[in-house]
Amino acid sequence: MTAPPAEAARTDPPASLRRLLVAPLRAVVMAWQVSLQARVVLTTLALGAVVLSLSAWLLLSQVSAGLVDSKRESSLAQAEAAFSEVQEDLDAASTVGESGTDPLVTRLVGSLASRSGSPSAYVVVLVGPISEGGGEGVTRSSIQVEPQSVPQDLQDEVRLRPGTWWTYTTVAFADADRRDGPGIAVGTRLQAPDEGGEYALYYLYPFDEQEQTIGLVARSVLLSGLLLMALVAGVAWLVTRQVVTPVRLARRIAERLAAGRLEERMQVRGKDDLARLAQSFNQMATGLQRQIRQLEGLSRLQRRFVSDVSHELRTPLTTVRMAADVLHDARGAFDPATGRSAELLQAELDRFESLLTDLLEISRFDAGAARLELAEVDLVGLAHQVVDAQRAVAERSGVGVRVVADAAVTTLADPRRIERIVRNLVANALAHAHSRQVQVIVAVDEHAAALAVRDHGTGLRPGEATLVFNRFWRADPARARSGGGTGLGLAIALEDAQLHGGWLQAWGEPGSGSQFRLTLPRRVSDDLRRSPIPLVPTDLGVGRPYATAANGAGTSDGAPPTPPARPPRHAGRKSPAPPRPGVHS
Ligand SMILES: Nc1ncnc2c1ncn2[C@@H]1O[C@H](COP(=O)(O)OP(=O)(O)OP(=O)(O)O)[C@@H](O)[C@H]1O
Ligand SMILES: [Mg+2]
Repeated sequence: MTAPPAEAARTDPPASLRRLLVAPLRAVVMAWQVSLQARVVLTTLALGAVVLSLSAWLLLSQVSAGLVDSKRESSLAQAEAAFSEVQEDLDAASTVGESGTDPLVTRLVGSLASRSGSPSAYVVVLVGPISEGGGEGVTRSSIQVEPQSVPQDLQDEVRLRPGTWWTYTTVAFADADRRDGPGIAVGTRLQAPDEGGEYALYYLYPFDEQEQTIGLVARSVLLSGLLLMALVAGVAWLVTRQVVTPVRLARRIAERLAAGRLEERMQVRGKDDLARLAQSFNQMATGLQRQIRQLEGLSRLQRRFVSDVSHELRTPLTTVRMAADVLHDARGAFDPATGRSAELLQAELDRFESLLTDLLEISRFDAGAARLELAEVDLVGLAHQVVDAQRAVAERSGVGVRVVADAAVTTLADPRRIERIVRNLVANALAHAHSRQVQVIVAVDEHAAALAVRDHGTGLRPGEATLVFNRFWRADPARARSGGGTGLGLAIALEDAQLHGGWLQAWGEPGSGSQFRLTLPRRVSDDLRRSPIPLVPTDLGVGRPYATAANGAGTSDGAPPTPPARPPRHAGRKSPAPPRPGVHS
């Protein structure tokens, strides 16, 4: 059964109250975290509150101690004077003709009580006749008070010893209209005439006036404290504003500079520290702008140069190629040395042509002219196709190549670019496999498709998993210069992967081989978060340290993530940060 509306309403307030309290608290915490101004104001307020509370406490305790002391002095003096007056009157009086001492004592005390004013400044309590043995007489008082208003200790002192005695007490009135409160009780023993026995006479002085004065002082202190706090908060806010406003301005300008608006500058007003800060900031921005422009110009020039040279070389290369083809075809008719030269010429021209093609491709990436031509790509089929195409090379170097895939893996991608990436990865693996097995692993999940090429050959030394993606980087340039590639393959592959919003990452360890993993989002617009294939191969022993893993993604030896080998340069293209290896699988 559900609770009736009335009950539901009854359980609501705590929740809403909590919400009511939590929201402002969160706002304060948030303000504390993000705003320097709020932090200064809150700190000043907190410290101000502590200082003010301490001074208020000191002031109030001193005022109340002073008030109580003077009240005690005056009460004791007044009570003692009254006691001796009553005793003198009693000594002079005679009870002859009266029915006893009681009426006489009562009358005298009555006359004392009548002087207390209205509302009465004190209460007169008469107890007696009393005896030292403990026998108590009747208690009479000018105003009805509770018996505990005269503490038992005081009563004992008065009964047992002569003189005037006092103590602090709580004066509790029988009348509900009058508030109980602290006070002082003074007492003495009176001797009635004509052997009429002894009486105990007490004066009770409530601290009403003192309490009122302390209350007034406390209220004034609180009010002035609050006003002072508001004033301090206002002053702190104003003062920090003067410092924080230029700092905020500098932050905004710095953000705009970082976003590429290099002409943004701070306004310089006056000659103070903040003006000098603005001046230095502007000088820094100008210096940065000049350097960035210079570098941009240089880089543009370099790219233009590479692009122009590559284009210019194409035409003569075509001519040379045709001539070389003729020579190559006719090499049978040459003497052996000339025939060999024709063959060498042909091989070097192949390399030259491939270098030129790569350079032109890189120029296209640099110019931001690379565009994706998307189609449905069957990654498993493509892997088989690439492996089959390189089967002859593999057999020549005695390497077995295997495609490992559980199911068909299709994704939307640019088939030409993906094929180029896989071709380079497989060719690299075959070149570094040292006659050991190479596997091409393909896997997919809901968000991403991945292809990894695993070899058990040379492996990568620490740091090389990032370096391999640099242009023209080769582990062994001497070997590469004579027979190997150009060192542009992985740089182009990384550009291709990033053009898809994907990752290309490397892992390697000397002696354990390496693994290069391409991860592509199922939809080009999706952000990649994880890959279906672990970057660090699962065929390694569990728990052993691994050497290097990155595409500029991060190293597995605890070093912080390194940035991508080259930042993406294409407008609107995402470059998701690949996860640290070993964390994701
Ligand atoms: N599987 C691998 N094992 C060990 N080192 C590798 C592997 N793949 C790449 N490398 C290293 O990275 C370097 C760069 O590779 P990249 O593919 O960019 O250039 P390349 O293969 O030398 O030339 P090409 O431009 O023809 O591909 C290689 O020269 C090699 O030193
Ligand atoms: Mg290569």
